[in-house]
Amino acid sequence: MASVTSLSDSVQQHLASALSATLPEAAGADPLLRRSDRADFQANGILALAKKAKANPRELATTVVGRVATGDELVKDVEVSGPGFLNITIADRAITANLAARYADDTGRLGVPLAAHPGTTVVDYAQPNVAKEMHVGHLRSAVIGDALRGMLDFTGEKTIGRHHIGDWGTQFGMLIQYLVENPGELAPAADVDGEQAMSNLNRVYKASRAVFDADEAFKERARRRVVALQSGDKETLELWQQFVDESKVYFYSVFEKLDMEIRDEEIVGESAYNDMMAETARLLEESGVAVRSEGALVVFFDDIRGKDDQPVPLIVQKADGGFGYAASDLSAIRNRVFDLHASTLLYVVDVRQSLHFRMVFEAARRQGWLNDDVTAHNMGYGTVLGADGKPFKTRAGETVRLEDLLDEAVQRAAEVVREKAQDLTEDEIQERAAQVGIGAVKYADLSTSPNRDYKFDLDQMVSLNGDTSVYLQYAYARIRSILRKAGEVRPAAHPELELHAAERALGLHLDAFGDTVFEAAAEYAPHKLAAYLYQLASLYTSFYDKCPVLKADTPQQVENRLFLCDLTARTLHRGMALLGIRTPEKL
Ligand code: ARG
Repeated sequence: MASVTSLSDSVQQHLASALSATLPEAAGADPLLRRSDRADFQANGILALAKKAKANPRELATTVVGRVATGDELVKDVEVSGPGFLNITIADRAITANLAARYADDTGRLGVPLAAHPGTTVVDYAQPNVAKEMHVGHLRSAVIGDALRGMLDFTGEKTIGRHHIGDWGTQFGMLIQYLVENPGELAPAADVDGEQAMSNLNRVYKASRAVFDADEAFKERARRRVVALQSGDKETLELWQQFVDESKVYFYSVFEKLDMEIRDEEIVGESAYNDMMAETARLLEESGVAVRSEGALVVFFDDIRGKDDQPVPLIVQKADGGFGYAASDLSAIRNRVFDLHASTLLYVVDVRQSLHFRMVFEAARRQGWLNDDVTAHNMGYGTVLGADGKPFKTRAGETVRLEDLLDEAVQRAAEVVREKAQDLTEDEIQERAAQVGIGAVKYADLSTSPNRDYKFDLDQMVSLNGDTSVYLQYAYARIRSILRKAGEVRPAAHPELELHAAERALGLHLDAFGDTVFEAAAEYAPHKLAAYLYQLASLYTSFYDKCPVLKADTPQQVENRLFLCDLTARTLHRGMALLGIRTPEKL
């Protein structure tokens, strides 16, 4: 594979060697290079180094400048500015040649190298609950988790998905008992579609709840059913499985609507760890990490206290011997670390569960399951808010069904697409509407920092102006249309050409794609990639305003500009794909 060193990395290396030649003790120091408005790059690192070496920063900077080779190959010009900054201008030829190498990479990676030492990250995301409707809260986990996975995979990290679905707990006693007494209420999973599955599950849920609340004798039978489930009674397990299968039919239909691939072998819910729970408890008790308290097995933390300054423990095993959510998560950690050989555990879960994870992770660290080499992170995301700034609800005050919300987004997108559509058939409009609507929902979520709340505002999301996926999709489609219009004229790089300022700005940004993905992946920050793509589209727009493409002065310039267009399109396409968003060819 042809991997390309980014211009900023090349300059960085240049500066570092000029620096260590000047000041041997600065070997390995970071020249702190960043993009700058004054020149292409600015390096600020000399200031601190001079201070440490008790040297005059401007003098040091001047000597370093004298050691940086300048010319056509990379650095065209470097000068000292201010108290000892370096302003660096890249040669036009170097920009074009670098982009040409990215363009020539036929692996679709745009010349971006793979990580030298990738690890294995288990990503816990998209975890709905059995027999329950998916709501807007489940959206964020799915969308953010999928994007993080896309970005991590691109860096070369091996990712394994885990959909820790809520498929266990006392509520199953009630559901199963109801089904025992009302057989046939759930049609076989093979016979229903997602919508039917959910409406059956809803009906059974409501009906069983009603009997449970009204009938003491049923409540007692439901309680005994929980015991039967936990002890592995065959008939009970079969009915439980029916709830799980039926729910999966529904989950798959929603994920399909979300345009997201979910693999069956990665749906590993709470119940999957049942066989490990007793051992998990035993190991924690033997090591003393967990202690008996009022009959329960618990882990205490000095700094986690509730009302009246009483310590809040993590409950590994209840006094009645039952295991709950924490035991399942602790067992899952053992499985992920020792069987899946994960180096990183990433949990994309609502920030409201962050205390749970803090306790679970700390317990696992004390036990040695997590350590400096195997770390865990809760990517806790904020709440989706309505236009009124309160948690997003329907007008009737109910939680919003995820499906309804997605349907509405697609419908709104259809209006936008239809209005703009020039040569699209009705089928094409519907297909684009799905890509635009779902893309809009995903992008709105991904373009804000995950730990912040964000407002769900469909009007804004499908707007053609501003920081939206539709804007990016239109930019992509416009470029594709220019490339079609070019007909026989093929994009080709001409490094000998001088570049317009708008071409330079676009080119330097294109070169930064790989560095951006690596940074965003390392920080679990999809919004950094989203911001990069938005800026890419904006830079492209101003390039397009200032530099005629098909009507450029010379045939070479037409080809070179087409090449910039095409590389922009490819970069947009790749970046959006990492975020899980489609880029239609025509809009
Ligand atoms: N199913 C849970 C919920 O809806 C989320 C599970 C998160 N993952 C985990 N390993 N606990 O709240």
